[in-house]
Amino acid sequence: MKKTIAIASDHAGYLLKDKVKALLEARGFEVEDFGTNGPDSVDYPDFAHPVASAVEQGRCPMAILICGTGNGMQIAANKHQGVRCALCWQREIAALARQHNDANIMALPARFIADDEALACVETFLDTPFEGGRHQRRVEKIVLQNS
Ligand code: RB5
Repeated sequence: MKKTIAIASDHAGYLLKDKVKALLEARGFEVEDFGTNGPDSVDYPDFAHPVASAVEQGRCPMAILICGTGNGMQIAANKHQGVRCALCWQREIAALARQHNDANIMALPARFIADDEALACVETFLDTPFEGGRHQRRVEKIVLQNS
């Protein structure tokens, strides 16, 4: 069965989203596209939350969110339990987000990254495993305990 990856952007990221989507499909992934699909101004939380819910509920093991800076999408997605959304602007950061943080969503800053670097970040994110070990302990400590 094909692995499903959720993807969404706001108006600042929809052109890059189409390129990322083409890459994912070329690599054999099923892509669940939550929009947006044009230049009309939209609000990034309206797109981040459905994608983060798909990851939170286990329907999609991984997702990619794109806005102008990546920050709005990342902040909204990280409100969801079990979501670890990492802002990635270089392939090395994308690799470390997987190796050390076991990130399950990548946020890309469409207005501050070249398309080829963004696509390299996506490939790196998909291909890099979590290292576990001491990082497992740290990732487990991310979840807020009742105080
Ligand atoms: C839209 O202008 C911009 O604010 C948005 O794409 C994103 O960068 C927010 O964090």
